[in-house]
Amino acid sequence: MDSSQVTERARMSAVDKQILIFSVYRDAELRGARLLFNLIGHMKDGDSQLKMAKHLADETRHAWLWTRRIADLGGTPLMLADGYQRRLGLRIGVPKTVVELLALTVVVEERAQSRYMAHAALPNVDDETREVLKAVTEDETWHLSWIEKKMREIARADGVEAKADEAIDRYRSIEREVYATLAADEVELMRT
Ligand SMILES: [Fe+2]
Ligand SMILES: [Fe+2]
Repeated sequence: MDSSQVTERARMSAVDKQILIFSVYRDAELRGARLLFNLIGHMKDGDSQLKMAKHLADETRHAWLWTRRIADLGGTPLMLADGYQRRLGLRIGVPKTVVELLALTVVVEERAQSRYMAHAALPNVDDETREVLKAVTEDETWHLSWIEKKMREIARADGVEAKADEAIDRYRSIEREVYATLAADEVELMRT
């Protein structure tokens, strides 16, 4: 979100707010898919390829589901120049190893899962949105579980378990700060 979008907050209707939130979700899904594209060539065993391909298909489908919700509301997805992964990327830098890439994926998946669960717990969520939230949350739970397991497996085999823990801790604490700035901007945008 940039400042020009913030200045438009006074004109925001309930539908506009939904379009904004779904655009934030869509942006995170698309950039999450890009992170997986970076990973898929690095993990060549059959099990990883099978799971990565399914995982990637899920993330692009999630982006599609949010895009369709936006279209159903008569809207167009907002292009977020300063979205979640971009802010995160600027703070974290480029992960240098497969274990670091997996650790970053774990942290991003944790946020996706908790964010969707928090949204589903809100009152007055319409049926269509609830259905999408349910579908994506189920997938995120599986994503988190297999990626974390794979990260630990590779770290153990390479003798870098401590480095994996360090990466997760560092990414989690940066992610919390980045998410807080994003959440604050969203609250600001939602205030009408
Ligand atoms: Fe997703
Ligand atoms: Fe995911």
